[in-house]
Amino acid sequence: MALPFPCLQDQQIDGRRVLVRVDFNVPLKDGAVFDDGRIRSALPTIQHLIEKNAIVALASHLGRPKGVDESLRLKPVAERLGELLGKPVHSASGCIGAEVEDQVAGLSAGDVIVLDNLRFHEAEKKNDPEFAKALAKPFELFVQDAFGSLHRAHASTDAITRELPSCAGLLVQKEMESLSRLVEAPEHPYKVIIGGKKAQEKIGGLFGLLNHADEFLIGGGISYTFLVNKRISVGNSIVAEEWRDEAKRFVEEAYHKGASVILPKDVQITQELKENPESVIALINKIPDGWEGVDIGPETTKDFRRRLKEAKTIFWAGPLGAFEFPPFNTGTLEIAKAVAESDAFVVVGGGESGAAFAQAGLSPDNVFVSTGGGAALEYASGKTLPGLEALKGE
Ligand code: 3PG
Repeated sequence: MALPFPCLQDQQIDGRRVLVRVDFNVPLKDGAVFDDGRIRSALPTIQHLIEKNAIVALASHLGRPKGVDESLRLKPVAERLGELLGKPVHSASGCIGAEVEDQVAGLSAGDVIVLDNLRFHEAEKKNDPEFAKALAKPFELFVQDAFGSLHRAHASTDAITRELPSCAGLLVQKEMESLSRLVEAPEHPYKVIIGGKKAQEKIGGLFGLLNHADEFLIGGGISYTFLVNKRISVGNSIVAEEWRDEAKRFVEEAYHKGASVILPKDVQITQELKENPESVIALINKIPDGWEGVDIGPETTKDFRRRLKEAKTIFWAGPLGAFEFPPFNTGTLEIAKAVAESDAFVVVGGGESGAAFAQAGLSPDNVFVSTGGGAALEYASGKTLPGLEALKGE
């Protein structure tokens, strides 16, 4: 597939100082990396650059800090990367400025350094050209490999491309090759599974998906915002009040476009969300006050499985229950199995739905797990990704 931007493999690398934007926005626990999936995904680009004798500097954000936050330094990420590469990886004292320039100048061909959190500088999110200039200063080439951040127009994803010759890394290329199958003539029936808690990050993206998808299976935290609109009493389940109107508008638009929207028929409910709590199954219109829905129930699982069987394309974003509190990961794991058994081409956006396959002991060939939840949803819904547009240099 010909990609509409310059690619890493076509660049002259030998001995050059290369700045790579990666998405190392990974979960940390007790000061160490808890899930290194995103670091592993960046390895092919990093290894390619090492083999070509580049001096490799990796830049990323981590979390959403306001100013410098000691708990969000990139040092633990550099340590984990060193373990994965089997060689020492340097940690920079910051991401711009004279000290960082000296650190980069002291490196030799094949060395790797991780710059500190880009978001310690407000200028990063403001797409500030001066910040991009300072970031670019010690380098000769920019490689964009942060697929998960391409939906952000920040200095390290947009303005930077006007400071250095720029190209896409191997992860961004792989992601685009898979995700483009969702928007360029996807095979039908095309089914979308939407879950997760953050209605505000999902509902806006659903409208664009109506251009291609035939059916929407909605479960997890987001489903209660749709269910209350049907005058169903959802007890203490999460409802995004400010998104109810948009949820209603989406259901109406889906109806007019002939797409079906399928909501849970039953749910697992509990009074207290913790590991192994007391829980029961309730029909969707029988959630008592003081109880909250925390997973799809067996009838819903059966219904979703049946509907997924006939799919030829599936896009899945978000877990269908409180995945981090077993046994409320059951519905998500069952759906992971159904997806893996289907004949569909499947794209999964986001860490938790992606992690479901590993937890279920599956590594299916038909499933592409994207490293970007938000970016994958925006791309699948037909929006342009600023970080990608910037690479095209238009
Ligand atoms: C993500 O985790 O989705 C990306 O790293 C983007 O992070 P952000 O939503 O804080 O910009």
